Amino acid sequence: MAERVAALLLADRLRPDRPLGLATGRTMEPVYAALARRLKRLEPALATTVRAGWSSFNLDEYVGLGPQDPASFAATMAHQLVEPLGLDPEQVRLPDGRADDPDAEAMRYGAAVAAAGGIGLQLLGLGLNGHVGFNEPPAGATVACRCLALSAPTRRQNAGAFGGDPGAVPRRAITLGMAEILAARRVLLVVTGSAKAAILRRALRVPPTPELPASWLQHHPALTVIADAEAMG
Ligand code: GLP
Repeated sequence: MAERVAALLLADRLRPDRPLGLATGRTMEPVYAALARRLKRLEPALATTVRAGWSSFNLDEYVGLGPQDPASFAATMAHQLVEPLGLDPEQVRLPDGRADDPDAEAMRYGAAVAAAGGIGLQLLGLGLNGHVGFNEPPAGATVACRCLALSAPTRRQNAGAFGGDPGAVPRRAITLGMAEILAARRVLLVVTGSAKAAILRRALRVPPTPELPASWLQHHPALTVIADAEAMG
């Protein structure tokens, strides 16, 4: 599954149109590892083209954390993507979790995505409560990039990166909104594991609702869902 997703990401980078939209999380770890292996196997001239033309925007970042914090998404991307692929860190963009004014940073980041022409291929994981990026329920289809409070279930879900302590997970995050996600040319939702079977089924079947932000993806004209057997239930 990770190989298939990596192949799609690499194909996108071989014929880049708009920037890639990237996600973090356990689901994506094998995807980035597979992407690094594929890039190494590529003909050197093509690999150079991919590296030189790389442009991506991550979905989100914790407020208060910067690249020097191992649990930040900036550090995660440096470790899982920038270093193994040999990318220019400037071309792998994330919201600045250390910005003095997180609301202003969210505005700046959303504007930067718009100035780049929006997202081409958007990679997405799925939160156990139906969030995508950090669009916590309730989230309407038109909410844009913003700073918001994380829910207790999400802080529990992500506690692994903080020594298993949900209390250590930052209370706020900056995330691209449903508006930027739904404006991507293509969306690739990647879901693994039996724990997500119920929420995946609901996200794809209920009438789209703010209570289940991933359900808005049903409206996207080019949605691909890649799930393993456990997540398919
Ligand atoms: C996190 C991230 C999402 C990610 C999701 C699933 O909170 N903000 O972008 O897709 O939760 O994470 P995991 O893949 O670890 O289950």
